Amino acid sequence: DGAGDPNILILPEHSRTLGKPVVTNPYGQPSQYEANLQRRESPGLTRVAAASVSFTPLQGLFGIITPSGLHFERHHQGWHDIDPTKHRFMINGLVKTPKVYSMDDLMRMPSVSRMHFIECGANTAMEWGNVAVPSVQYSHGMLSCSEFTGVPLPVLLDDCGYDKRRAKVVLAEGADGSSMTRTIGLDRALDDVIVAWAMNGEMLRPEHGYPLRLVVPGVQGVSWVKWLRRIEVGDQPYATKDEALHYIDALPDGTFRQYTSIQECKSVITTPSAGQRLLDTGYYNITGLAWSGRGKVKRVDVSVDGGRNWRTARLETPLLSKCLTRFNIDWNWDGAPAVLQSRAIDETGYVQPKINELRAVRGTRSIYHNNAIQSWQVAQSGEVSNVQVY
Ligand code: MTE
Repeated sequence: DGAGDPNILILPEHSRTLGKPVVTNPYGQPSQYEANLQRRESPGLTRVAAASVSFTPLQGLFGIITPSGLHFERHHQGWHDIDPTKHRFMINGLVKTPKVYSMDDLMRMPSVSRMHFIECGANTAMEWGNVAVPSVQYSHGMLSCSEFTGVPLPVLLDDCGYDKRRAKVVLAEGADGSSMTRTIGLDRALDDVIVAWAMNGEMLRPEHGYPLRLVVPGVQGVSWVKWLRRIEVGDQPYATKDEALHYIDALPDGTFRQYTSIQECKSVITTPSAGQRLLDTGYYNITGLAWSGRGKVKRVDVSVDGGRNWRTARLETPLLSKCLTRFNIDWNWDGAPAVLQSRAIDETGYVQPKINELRAVRGTRSIYHNNAIQSWQVAQSGEVSNVQVY
């Protein structure tokens, strides 16, 4: 109307006054205008909130690193803020010298820092049978990616002189009341597993295992034992409650698969995604995340017509092994209904399956390891919703 934009014409307060002093927030916080971006719980998912999960708001994040305060949480029996001076970590079992380490002992050892995703095996669990949740936060938000720092597990196993002839596995045990225990094959333990104290450049947050957690790249979150207090070297899998009763995959013939640890190649479009709305026709940058527990992501294809035609997306660097990869692709929305999908392929050649392909093998009673292609429907109104396309 020719009046001009008051946001330009009227000099705002912040351009006329002195700003807040340094160290107003000794530990910085996000802008007050970003308050809606939060980890969220799915009401009624579990009976007690201490044994529950909060989901990462993937729809509101950029790049591949998850801010520590938005990293998803999964606790079997709540979280604790443990005094690091009192925390002890023991290695025993098939070793020459069983040892107990303090945090000071560990933190003077040679350390590494690596970026990896962590995904709960139960991520996307509710979508096995039918569409169940309203947004990517709830469908895929048991997924985060961080830089972890710690001492490589092989360094510690060597320090205790593990029995090279008899050792086949290690058992990792947490210090929380859930006695979280998981068997990890020795091959993997000697490969890239880290006994970590830091995440994204700072000490681990209490919710994520402060002061010590196991990092098991490519493997489902449950094996990333938090508040890590013990590693036992053994000669056979332990079949603990967390690997005999829980974290087993129900198959259509009534049997269960055990020790399915690897998070297979998967991807999801984070924008546009369910719960969002396209405001207008025209250009959109479709963006999302891809990952593989077996190594690097090689390619991501995107379809806007429910999987009939595919185009190859641009992958952002860095392209790291067992780490999230960000993809982008241009799209001009003409206003017609559309179904958006992404399909990732990893360096082993494995192709992310369609939901009906996965169901043909796995049935619908499984909780874990749903890595199916996700579909988002864009209606003529611009509303985006969660749908399943076969
Ligand atoms: N470790 C202990 N000691 N206790 C737990 O409840 N939960 C596991 C794993 N490690 C858990 C644990 C599960 S099921 C997952 S998915 C990851 O931690 C979640 O890690 P996060 O809370 O840092 O995202």
